[in-house]
Amino acid sequence: MSNDLLRFEDEYLARYYSKKPLNITRGYMQYTWDSNNNRYLDMHTGFGVAFLGHRNPRIINAIREQLDRILTVSLTFYNEARAEFIREFTKIMPSGFGKVFLQNSGTEAVEVALKIARKVSKRTEFLAFLNSFHGRSLGALSVTGNEKYRKAFEPMPYKTRFAPFNAIDQVDKLVTEDLAAVIVEPIQGEGGVNPAKPEFLRALRQVTREKNVLLILDEIQSGFGRTGRTWAFENYGVEPDIFTAGKSVAGGLPIGIAAVRRELGDVFEPGEHGSTFAGNPLVMAAAKAGVETLLNEDVPGRVRTMGEEFMKILEDELGSLKPVLRVKGMGFMIGIELKKRAEPYIDRLIPMGLLTSVAGGTTVRLLPPYCITDDDMNMAVKALKTVLSENS
Ligand SMILES: Cc1ncc(COP(=O)(O)O)c(C=O)c1O
Repeated sequence: MSNDLLRFEDEYLARYYSKKPLNITRGYMQYTWDSNNNRYLDMHTGFGVAFLGHRNPRIINAIREQLDRILTVSLTFYNEARAEFIREFTKIMPSGFGKVFLQNSGTEAVEVALKIARKVSKRTEFLAFLNSFHGRSLGALSVTGNEKYRKAFEPMPYKTRFAPFNAIDQVDKLVTEDLAAVIVEPIQGEGGVNPAKPEFLRALRQVTREKNVLLILDEIQSGFGRTGRTWAFENYGVEPDIFTAGKSVAGGLPIGIAAVRRELGDVFEPGEHGSTFAGNPLVMAAAKAGVETLLNEDVPGRVRTMGEEFMKILEDELGSLKPVLRVKGMGFMIGIELKKRAEPYIDRLIPMGLLTSVAGGTTVRLLPPYCITDDDMNMAVKALKTVLSENS
């Protein structure tokens, strides 16, 4: 960007993603604004983080109150903001789960899940799936089934077998007694918004149980109301041994959670696992307000109803357009799979006032906040229809 200030990002910020020429300065609920005061309907939501809206007033108030108390307390001491969050989280954690790990990102939550599996099983190898995404640290990359993210960093520290996602007939053969764990996203996010088939997840649960192998469900993108249930696995009637969460739980502040079944107990001895920032009081206050919002506003219920409506309109309006292969997803985790690269379409949606993201190269991914209205949905459909109808 040709701006005296922003050039510091170009010059000194290490490369992460390819960047869009947009300087976002402000957000409120489902909208963001750029430095020229143009408003955008945000279905990018910082890769799904702003699911509860930008600066949701409940979360802002909780953060403000905590600011007057304390900002850092290590896990060596008790802290009420932390305890209050945990109490709130137990309301949305299935009753079979007995412990939570509080981390600072989704990747860290996956890391701790893998460490637990290693320690509990005393085995080293994992089973994961093609097109999966579990994070960028070397451990999480080890179970990420996409060459693009791994290639430059091989060999990986954890040996992992990758199997085709949704290959129901292969589950029995793939899950062997020597595995530390199976890790899977109920709905692959980065891989292209691909929901697991119910029979596939159920078969994985059944066979892992029979063979005494842990099942980790990565709910970092699909969890916390995103699919119209608090956890995506509720759509499948399947409960894992460990599940991870992150993204939107603290309304925009960094968080990662790994929840562990009660019978696995404490897992680590004091000092075997740790984290300087984990359970940070400001994040905990925001996360407590996040869970309250989820429950008090019946976020999953709203998403379930509106998500069905949204998917139907998208299918009706876009399904027969030339570049469109299919509309897929669940709740407010929606993909429009194209016959070609999605990125040029995503770029053309920006000046029309709609922010989206790419998944799996050819899918335009919509991760709207729970608070979008019918008018917002119609605006998004109109913008998508326009760009997908253009000759290119
Ligand atoms: C399913 C899944 N797991 C793990 C991660 C990594 O989370 P984070 O980027 O917060 O480290 C992501 C991020 O997109 C994800 O979608």
